[in-house]
Amino acid sequence: MKFEDEKLPPHVLIFPYPIQGHLSPMLNLAHLFCLAEFHVTFIVSDFSHRRLLQHTAVASTFARYPGFQFRTISDGLPDDHPRAGEKVLDVLPSVTNIMVPLFKKMIVREDFFASAGRRRVTCLVADGLLSFAFDFAEENRFPLVSFRTVTLSNFWAFFHLNELIEAQEIPFKGDMDVLVKSVPGMEGFLRRRDLPSFCRAGDVNDPVLQTLSAVSRKTIRAQAAIFNTFEDLEGSIASQLRQHMPRIYTIGPIHEQLKSKLMDKEAEASILSGNFWAEDRSCIDWLNAQPSKSVIYVSFGSITVVTREQLMEFWHGLVNSSQRFLWVVRPDSVAGKDEVYQITEELMRETKEKGYMVKWAPQEEVLSHPAVGGFLTHSGWNSTLESIVAGVPMICWPYFGDQTINSRFVSEVWKIGLDIKDSCDRLIIEKAVRELMEDRKQELLERAQDMAKLAKKAVSKGGSSSCNLDDLIEYINSLII
Ligand code: UDX
Repeated sequence: MKFEDEKLPPHVLIFPYPIQGHLSPMLNLAHLFCLAEFHVTFIVSDFSHRRLLQHTAVASTFARYPGFQFRTISDGLPDDHPRAGEKVLDVLPSVTNIMVPLFKKMIVREDFFASAGRRRVTCLVADGLLSFAFDFAEENRFPLVSFRTVTLSNFWAFFHLNELIEAQEIPFKGDMDVLVKSVPGMEGFLRRRDLPSFCRAGDVNDPVLQTLSAVSRKTIRAQAAIFNTFEDLEGSIASQLRQHMPRIYTIGPIHEQLKSKLMDKEAEASILSGNFWAEDRSCIDWLNAQPSKSVIYVSFGSITVVTREQLMEFWHGLVNSSQRFLWVVRPDSVAGKDEVYQITEELMRETKEKGYMVKWAPQEEVLSHPAVGGFLTHSGWNSTLESIVAGVPMICWPYFGDQTINSRFVSEVWKIGLDIKDSCDRLIIEKAVRELMEDRKQELLERAQDMAKLAKKAVSKGGSSSCNLDDLIEYINSLII
């Protein structure tokens, strides 16, 4: 009982899936726990840790909290592995076969991260994709809190993958616009084409389909689950899930919740976006010179890889729409990497005063800039939430995974954007950009701004996400009594 001093705070072990879109919200969650004066051990891959140190203020942000520590281990992939596009699928087996065994050795060797002034781990907050966590937490008798980086709606659909298979709704071929019947609450609008690509033609033994189905079902073995969403957005699905698992904490948008808590405490620490690339701030100067709500911001997150042909369709669609645009073209985001600099440099010369391109932007700042009136996005959940908070309507071009369901919700349920999934044609892109920035501008902006108010209300004092975070903190505190 050497380290079980009852005055010591809870010690939360956070283990994210080691790619950027998962790290960002979990780093912000770690920051919220630090504000609650918890001790936090954060597991990160060597690769991600180096990129974070290089491109973010992660070191100075967490230096303020002596109770916070990183522990780094290999994700099992060589440094020059792209961890993007289709290659991102290599991360899961590598984490399972290499990273997790290394983690298990480390935690035993370090006596469950106990030290003078730090108790042994009180609970594990593990990314919902980490299947090992369920058995591991049970074997070691500590509570498990599952953290999902996808929406509740996505999780709910993944939770019903078995039912979809049994009803022979997936895998499917043929008419993609048939409505899906086996996901309760989504019968009226969810089409086959909105399900992730691994549900399309293929076989039921597809490893991604099987892994996601198994891991989603297992979630209810955890003592609690955290979702980066809010009740006004997905409350009806939260109520359905609570029938299977009562402790569901909807505490999002987490980045906004953190901002609000830092303001309350008058703390100056920066909000981390988990950047793996250097932000090019010249785009803010460019935006400063543009009229109000005149620019469409174009970005496809940290994993999407497009072909050269797709890149050209987007470029023609944007230029032909005659709207101003700010476009992020990540260095590794075009297949056939050697050409990318040459292509973008040529395009940049030709976009002249109407367009501006950068390799990586300070996205949250861009979205809240007065010149930005729309967002052409791949519908990653972090980007979607950031757009919701900023009140910016979207054109959704989902790439993979959860994004195909996100885009359906944006267009059909929340009605704050347009969904152009499965088409990458310059005419369709041009039409969508004109619709968003001209024909339906007022209507979509108003709806997006109403949604932004709800998001901000959720994280403000007394709001649903703020109260749920208090409840989560109280729950974790109760684990040491
Ligand atoms: C992935 C998945 O796609 C997403 O759906 C899942 O829920 C989490 O992991 P990613 O594809 O990178 O993440 O997309 P997204 O979730 O949108 O995250 C991208 C992040 O990068 C956002 O926080 C965004 O602000 C940031 N970003 C992107 C920048 O800071 N600058 C840029 O130029 C582009």
